Amino acid sequence: MNTTFLKACKGEEVSYTPVWLMRQAGRYLPEYQAVRSKVTFLELCKTPELAAEVTIQPVDILGVDAAILFSDILVPLEAMGTTLEFHEKRGPVFPSPIRDRAAVDNLIVPDPEEKLGFVMETIRVLRRELAQKVPLIGFSGAPFTLATYLIEGGSSRQFLLTKKMMYADPELYGALLDKITDCTTEYLKAQAAAGAQALQIFDSWVGVLGPSDFEQFALPYVQRIIKGLKDSGVDVPIIYFANNGATLLKMAKTSGADVLGLDWRINIDDAVRVVGQDVSLQGNLDPCALLLPKEKMEQRIGRILEQAKGARGHVFNLGHGILPEIPPEQAKFMVEAVHRLSAKG
Ligand code: CP3
Repeated sequence: MNTTFLKACKGEEVSYTPVWLMRQAGRYLPEYQAVRSKVTFLELCKTPELAAEVTIQPVDILGVDAAILFSDILVPLEAMGTTLEFHEKRGPVFPSPIRDRAAVDNLIVPDPEEKLGFVMETIRVLRRELAQKVPLIGFSGAPFTLATYLIEGGSSRQFLLTKKMMYADPELYGALLDKITDCTTEYLKAQAAAGAQALQIFDSWVGVLGPSDFEQFALPYVQRIIKGLKDSGVDVPIIYFANNGATLLKMAKTSGADVLGLDWRINIDDAVRVVGQDVSLQGNLDPCALLLPKEKMEQRIGRILEQAKGARGHVFNLGHGILPEIPPEQAKFMVEAVHRLSAKG
């Protein structure tokens, strides 16, 4: 198996910079569309053979150095007892948002093997099918990001209801976050036990918080998850991706993660100055750069590789998920360019 990705996560010597793309399995790939046209998105997540098939597609098509489990960060919230729908235009919807004590009390902390067995089964299928290929990354959402979906009832721009609950009723907010944190810790433990070889925690919307609020209302829950995993003997690399989090980096460093994911709003050399040699870094090409002519894209890739030279370890990635508009051959070129430009003679 190609272990370059795992080595870079741990800061070990590598012969080239490994690369994968956030949301690498998805709508920009015609092969994904073909599978997806026969089932709904949630059916795809819940059918291990199909979820495994679309997980492997970008490994074979793009030549990336890691696979990421095909699922969604919102899937475990359904297992907590909520109703989750995916609408074609609006995206995810929770028709009964969580906004009061009774709703929080009604949430359960599920046994992941019992309620999310299809995810563990997908991981087991994938470990068999990826055995000669690349490592498998499991994932979850971070508690703050997951809570925004439950409180707002879906995607949001201002996060008004979330911030209102957080500031006006911190006890209720804390009770909700405690439950999500317990669920997430058990869920990630089960993924590692099933065979996930690294775990990424997506904090997609945490950048809407100021530093003090991040420190009080988001970071402690991430720390608790990571400590819970490490204390129970999970020893796979853990990646924490705080999107839009350049100003939060000094604090994110205390999350306990082995790798910090970076969006494109910070230069990696500046990030290295903040985090030092305690963690590896992942990122951070602007996803829109995949639309550029090849020479221009390559210049940007070269700049990032150069800036990351001082990092303990570097995993190349986009600064956020790949966009549905990207031609697959452009993503393939990016992977090839990262490998070629970073190869050590
Ligand atoms: O990275 C991968 O290839 C693995 C699969 C994956 C999906 N979602 C599949 C998906 C992962 C890791 C996620 C994480 C996820 N889901 C995040 C965090 C990452 C990020 O982008 O910040 C978030 C915020 C979600 C919530 C979510 N899921 C939204 C807002 C939407 C609708 C908008 C959109 O991007 O499509 C989804 C649906 C979703 N999740 C799709 C896929 C492939 C599209 C569903 C379809 O086929 O119609």
